[in-house]
Amino acid sequence: MTLNFPLKSAALATTAIALSLALIGCSNASMPTDKANVDAEMRAPGAVNPEIWPKLESPVGLDAAVEARISDIIAKMPLRHKIGQIVQADIGSITPEDIKTYPLGSILNGGNSAPNGDNRSPASAWVELADAFYLASQEAYPEGVPFIPMLWGTDAVHGHNNIPGATVFPHNIGLGATRNPSLLGQIGAITAQEIRTGGQEWTFAPTIAVVRDDRWGRTYEGYAENPEVTASYAGELVRGIQGVPGSDGWLQGNKVIATAKHFVGDGGTAGGRDQGDNLDSEEDLRDIHAAGYPAALDAGVQSVMISFSSWQGKKLHGHKGLINDVLKGQMGFDGFVVGDWNAHGQIEGCTNENCPTALHAGLDMYMAPDSWRGLFDNLLAQAEAGEIDMARLDDAVRRILRVKIRSGLFEAGLPSQRALASDYDLLASPDSKDVARQAVRESLVLLKNDGVLPLSKGMNILMAGDGADNIGKQSGGWTLSWQGTGNANSDFPGGSSFYDGVSRHVKAGGGSVTLSEDGSYAAKPDVAMVVFGEDPYAEFKGDIDNLSYKPGDDSDLALLQQYKADGIPVVAVFLSGRPLWMNREINASDAFVAAWLPGSEGGYATDVLFGDMDFKGTLPYSWPRTAVQTPLNVGDENYDPLFAYGYGLTYANPAKVGTLPEEAGIALSVKNDSDYFRVGKAVFPWALYASDDAGKTTIATTRGRSPMGVIQVNSADDGAQENIRTIAWDGRGPARFEVGGNAIDLSRQTTGDMAVYFRIRRDTDMGNADLSLGVLCGTNCKAGTQDLGSSLSKAPEGEWQDYQVKLSCFGEGDDLDQVTAPFTLSSTGAFQVSLSDVRLVSNEGAATCLRE
Ligand code: BGC
Ligand code: BGC
Repeated sequence: MTLNFPLKSAALATTAIALSLALIGCSNASMPTDKANVDAEMRAPGAVNPEIWPKLESPVGLDAAVEARISDIIAKMPLRHKIGQIVQADIGSITPEDIKTYPLGSILNGGNSAPNGDNRSPASAWVELADAFYLASQEAYPEGVPFIPMLWGTDAVHGHNNIPGATVFPHNIGLGATRNPSLLGQIGAITAQEIRTGGQEWTFAPTIAVVRDDRWGRTYEGYAENPEVTASYAGELVRGIQGVPGSDGWLQGNKVIATAKHFVGDGGTAGGRDQGDNLDSEEDLRDIHAAGYPAALDAGVQSVMISFSSWQGKKLHGHKGLINDVLKGQMGFDGFVVGDWNAHGQIEGCTNENCPTALHAGLDMYMAPDSWRGLFDNLLAQAEAGEIDMARLDDAVRRILRVKIRSGLFEAGLPSQRALASDYDLLASPDSKDVARQAVRESLVLLKNDGVLPLSKGMNILMAGDGADNIGKQSGGWTLSWQGTGNANSDFPGGSSFYDGVSRHVKAGGGSVTLSEDGSYAAKPDVAMVVFGEDPYAEFKGDIDNLSYKPGDDSDLALLQQYKADGIPVVAVFLSGRPLWMNREINASDAFVAAWLPGSEGGYATDVLFGDMDFKGTLPYSWPRTAVQTPLNVGDENYDPLFAYGYGLTYANPAKVGTLPEEAGIALSVKNDSDYFRVGKAVFPWALYASDDAGKTTIATTRGRSPMGVIQVNSADDGAQENIRTIAWDGRGPARFEVGGNAIDLSRQTTGDMAVYFRIRRDTDMGNADLSLGVLCGTNCKAGTQDLGSSLSKAPEGEWQDYQVKLSCFGEGDDLDQVTAPFTLSSTGAFQVSLSDVRLVSNEGAATCLRE
């Protein structure tokens, strides 16, 4: 295929049109036709011209016998069963018992869902649950209605990352660095095989987003910024997962159904915002963002997941032009289209439970994790009332049944009886691990080497940094849990950390290794290896505003500089889901390796560091010169990266990097003294804490509790995923929730008439329970508390309340010069509240004091 790099001007022109339309208050519906005629070039934003897209044909084609079989089944299906086929529920919100009465077509396990609510459930629990659902689903079919088994979809996005002990491959960004398409085929095959051991038959992979702004939290899910790489990988991976279209064993046996996602443009949203808006031209959408789709479709991918994002202001889930006219029409896709996590609810006029629009736009299966029941009931009522296009409904059902028949699901029987089910030895088999290790070695990109690499196996090596012996950190998001947080090395039986890798080599070579998390050492080592980088994240939780690394926290840099000052050569190994501005760290290192997120076999990176083989990886994303140089992509006009796309040193071809400028282009330690809590998480540099009589814990993941469990803090959904926190006290003693961090001076703000704004909801009866709102501060300051209980307990249950409490209610001037927690909630009672936002706002007159 030819590579069409974007002409910036074209993208800008489209943006300008979208903006000017917005400015003159013209939505595309109300755009006057004569104006459109005047400028034939000027299409309504979001309108498509299917003819400019590649004209493709399904590699399998429709089989007359299969289509007749589907017609026969559909003719016997009650409306209720048709609706069931197009709804998918999450196993965290549905039980086999529910399936007896709701004949759903599919279930999934979302990133945080696993059998028995336990992310560490062994493979056997997956098979048991698959059987339980299968057996229960049979009961949903009365006499005369043909039984249709359910599909179970799972996010096996870097190997089967859902089951402890599975082979966890490098995230896609690392695979992009290998530029080795055939490796992708092998990885797909292994992933499929491991999925089968747990009794599942469908994966939500590959992600074929072409990522153009590295601030996006999903950058690591993309292979490269260059569409050519994605196009060269997509087909290989799909064939690896599914087999060869039409051949024996396609989608069956040791193969599973693949999903190309997220259609389309998810990697190009403005500002790199997750679930945001892609403003590119239709040509760029096709040439850059959709570049992997022709290859995936040609390889016979059987499902396509629609993106959360919008294109030119219109949510993809409601985009009939792109789903129906382009994907299914022009591009000949004959499998089924699945939605993303309640994403249909984001279409204008829709809710998670009510959205016929998505079906009409071409969605075949709604991903309705926790909303499935309401959605099912509404769709059924709408179909009965004639509000649903029956031909469209039948087509959606037909497409789902087509894939089920093609994959042999009807004949497969009980999940536990299928090929490979319960064959747990296959998880992380030596052959599979070999492929993962090769992927790790090939993915490393050497950014700098002043001669310290390769290491010798006879050296005394000091290993420091919080990534040195941390398989969870090196595996990133989408690993056992959604965010990939909370994983210990013991969750990766047979896995390998960098420390494990170095140990293996020095043991063989007569050297020694000392692991020192904090970096301190007693005897001066020959060399220090510092393994550090981003902590795991997934999706929008990884969105950042600029490419600086841990702004405000220079501890890793300090460690590197300390060794340099002590005359110890330093090898920096950087774990990250994207390039970041690292000039200071690179200057402080003698060698700098971008290791991305290498997964459970990450320790095999050391084979390259010790010179058993040469470096092979080259940059899949351009490396920025400053923290604000984004978007930055090869082919840009005035392209001026620090390390260009495709850069990568080797032992055979060394080069000198020299001292880099240390101007980040932005103030790195900007204090955030006004924005504390948003979309379910503390805003940097703040963190969430829960304390009780036994002490205090940090709530770093979606679920947490104070040491004794008196207070429980969980993530919950309120119209979007995990955008609020529930806070529950159990009444066993005093307990406090706080948004806290390093002390800030808010004395000026007390006089400046600022107020703490927060949005809170009472979820249960509070009786007479006390609840005080407070501000915590250092030794010399004396911030008081305010009585929130008296007012909140009388507010209606389940309804959000906005509060604005003047900062001066907590103290005056110097009272608040060392605030360590700008927001605390303390109680001795037993009840639950939910919290959505906390920030400092200027008092426009609405702020008051509560009672002291
Ligand atoms: C789920 C993920 C899902 C996410 C949606 C999480 O709660 O576990 O699977 O991707 O929500 O953003
Ligand atoms: C993600 C998808 C994922 C789905 C199911 C969504 O939030 O965007 O990539 O497949 O959840 O977990």
